[in-house]
Amino acid sequence: MAEKIQKPKGTQDLLPEATIAWQHVETTARQLFASWGYGEIRTPIFEDTALFLRGVGETTDIVHKEMYRFEKSERDLCLRPEGTAGVVRAFMEAGLSRASKPVKLWYTGPMFRYERPQAGRYRQFHQLGVEVFGLATPETDVEVIALAWQLLESLGLKGLTLHLNDIGTASDRTAFRAKLQEHLRPLLPQLCKTCQHRFDENPFRMLDCKVPACQAAYESVYIDDFLKTPWTGIDSQAAFTRITTLLSALNIPWVQNHKLVRGLDYYTHTVFEITANTDGVDGMGTINTVCGGGRYNGLVETLGGEPTPGVGWALGLERLIALLPKHEDSSPLMVVLPSGNDGSSPQDWASAYQQAKTLRQQHPTATILLDTSNRAFKKQMEAADKRGASSVWFQRDGEWQQKLLGR
Ligand code: HAM
Repeated sequence: MAEKIQKPKGTQDLLPEATIAWQHVETTARQLFASWGYGEIRTPIFEDTALFLRGVGETTDIVHKEMYRFEKSERDLCLRPEGTAGVVRAFMEAGLSRASKPVKLWYTGPMFRYERPQAGRYRQFHQLGVEVFGLATPETDVEVIALAWQLLESLGLKGLTLHLNDIGTASDRTAFRAKLQEHLRPLLPQLCKTCQHRFDENPFRMLDCKVPACQAAYESVYIDDFLKTPWTGIDSQAAFTRITTLLSALNIPWVQNHKLVRGLDYYTHTVFEITANTDGVDGMGTINTVCGGGRYNGLVETLGGEPTPGVGWALGLERLIALLPKHEDSSPLMVVLPSGNDGSSPQDWASAYQQAKTLRQQHPTATILLDTSNRAFKKQMEAADKRGASSVWFQRDGEWQQKLLGR
């Protein structure tokens, strides 16, 4: 026998039993986005590598270590590791920067990161996200967060916490970087290898480290004193307060997490993550961040467009679905059994196809199966029962009759 080929490490096959939950999430999200005035955008799964080098940042783990990068016809391409950069490129390419603002978009699809796979972390995973262009008000940040919150709540996710931070602008971070390096230099030997590596390249990302010794070293460093660049005409602190006051008024519980820096370089000011309770979910443990996002007022310009503020988020569908209460398919199943066995005439078959068609029209939310096995009538009955049919249809004396199976 030929050797079997298996799916690549870090990928998943979603079989019909699993896709019921995916369809439920997608349908709920689709309806919600439409009612909040967001239009769907679909962008390519591969892009010019330069888009992510410039957009996400060369020193980020995502770009530096995790991209599926390849060359075709001397073009440097890669599978998209995230959705925002591609949406910004499409936004500019389609001339949407000239459209009336704000432009509100949503998207879903596979993303690719060469990470160490574990429960809740894959190499091909799926995101559902939104991006809003053209408004730099704190109220827009709140609206975008409230949308994520409503989606997660309406899906029945429990134990949600919103973690918030203001990470200033790139120039605020440059000033902070020098201070951070000065403070951390004497502590370097005690820090983990990853932090030692990040010290020169991207010291800001050190703050995100989960190693307890590193966490202790970063206890007293705050970017807050370096948040000098105002946005939307008001200073950072006032904008942050406007956001948190509104969130509290909307009953969205938030915590300020000074160590929340995010793994992508394009953010300015507001960043956030939403975590969920992973108790009782196999192996998920600390992989509890279902949604991440923030404001990126410089990204459109960095990618060659007119200065346009933006804010958005993406949630990980694999993580979200693993945490959801089980969603059963409750649509009734009916099976049409062609009357005669092997000897069915073409007229019998035609009548059975017609009966299935009629039932599908009469019961649009039910599943109607036609048994085309040509097995004996008794066997067809047994098979329908085994599949969990609520009723079967068969012909007697030229009339179609329904037999209920007591479900
Ligand atoms: P991100 O935090 O890198 O942000 O990813 C968003 C979400 O995608 C995460 O919170 C997580 O649920 C999921 N995710 C990330 N990596 C994996 C993985 N390897 N396996 C499974 N799920 C994963 C972004 O990608 C930004 N583009 C979000 C954004 C939109 N910011 C502004 N607009």
